[in-house]
Amino acid sequence: MTTTPAHVEEADAILRRLMTEHQSDPYPLFARLRELDPVHRSSMGNFWVLTRYDDVQKILKDKRFVRHFEDFHKRSSGTDADTKRSFAESQSHWLIFSNPPEYHAKRAVYNSAIFSGSRVKDLRPLITSLTDELLNSATDRGEIDIVGQLGYQLTIKVMGHIMGLPGNADIQPFIDWAAAVGPTFEPLVEDSVLRTADKAMDKLNGFLGDRIKQRHGGSGEDLLSRSVAAMEAGTLTEEEVLANAGLLYIAGFETTTHFLGNAVYSLLRHRDQWDLFTSDPARLVDGAVEELLRFESSVQAEPPHRIATEDIQLPTATIPAGDTVVPLMGAANRDPERFKDPDRLDITRKDVRPLSFGGGIHVCIGQHLARLEANIVLVELARRFPGLQLCDEEPEWLGGITARGLRKLKVRLT
Ligand code: HEM
Repeated sequence: MTTTPAHVEEADAILRRLMTEHQSDPYPLFARLRELDPVHRSSMGNFWVLTRYDDVQKILKDKRFVRHFEDFHKRSSGTDADTKRSFAESQSHWLIFSNPPEYHAKRAVYNSAIFSGSRVKDLRPLITSLTDELLNSATDRGEIDIVGQLGYQLTIKVMGHIMGLPGNADIQPFIDWAAAVGPTFEPLVEDSVLRTADKAMDKLNGFLGDRIKQRHGGSGEDLLSRSVAAMEAGTLTEEEVLANAGLLYIAGFETTTHFLGNAVYSLLRHRDQWDLFTSDPARLVDGAVEELLRFESSVQAEPPHRIATEDIQLPTATIPAGDTVVPLMGAANRDPERFKDPDRLDITRKDVRPLSFGGGIHVCIGQHLARLEANIVLVELARRFPGLQLCDEEPEWLGGITARGLRKLKVRLT
């Protein structure tokens, strides 16, 4: 299809809907966007939105893009500098805004903490026993909210263990902090969103700052101890230790919790796939997790922080140097040119390779952990409750184009 000004206008209208309205099913809108203008320059915030699998995959790996905190931060109407001090200050030190060559040494510190594929496996017994505990205590009730009573409870505790902050701390403040920070990843952000995130970040920094102080001079193996040791060795600054502790904590539970909700919901809405899965969960689970990541990921778009350092040629358009690109992985994962019958959930689909964890040097550091948590939870649910039922067929989705998840997902444990 040749892109006309009318197509560009319709594509912008679709984007506006995706960013401002709650969508229980955004995929027809993604498909229309891809059909109208697959490399779309939005007039709303001067960024490009990509929806084809091949384009998104290419851009994710392209080293001619850099991360730019200042440009990212300029997205808000932004006159109210004082009220968003903590948040901007923290964000500016996040790993996701760091560029080579310094980036690699910083990322290596966090990789070494636990996130490599082989080290993550050590967490299997912990994740299994926490999942068992949560499901045991729900069995008498006969139902569980997969998001609030399983996902958050499990993933916040696992992150606490990784950070070196175990114990049964009250998890509600973490959920509130994540809810405040999540919307800042949207392509367009109101000042009020940043003010809320700023207050949350102050509190999270207070919580983590006290605990980081206790790690000075220590030799522990947990993430906080390792990052403090890296600071003492000169690889990280004090600000980076604090800011990335907050980033990792929140990224480590919010995304996976919502992925668990999306995964269980998708399987139960496609009963044939759930029934197939329960027939042999241990054998089918790896493929099922990849297909569920493709079908209903909890991260559908990258935040607008990839800036072209030179003109980038794509099949249907050229992105000029200095422009920002937003890869829409949720659309790419349903591209019919890459996936046959893309709107069908098929847990036995071959060669899935979803783009849900991004790609290139910044590819999600927690991808092995997220996969392991999903693997254990789905197998446990299928083994214990093959008759699992949704309590509500139309649960409420979060808003926005970047994060995708359910506010709650009650299921009957049968
Ligand atoms: C299903 C769950 C998850 C999804 C869908 C997801 C998705 C993503 C995506 C799309 C990116 C951007 C990658 C890029 O820029 O190309 C990312 C980066 C990141 N994720 Fe995840 N993530 C998940 C789980 C986790 C977990 C469990 C953790 C931590 C334990 C985590 C921590 C991070 C961090 C720190 C980054 C920034 C990495 C960097 O810039 O070097 N994520 N994630």
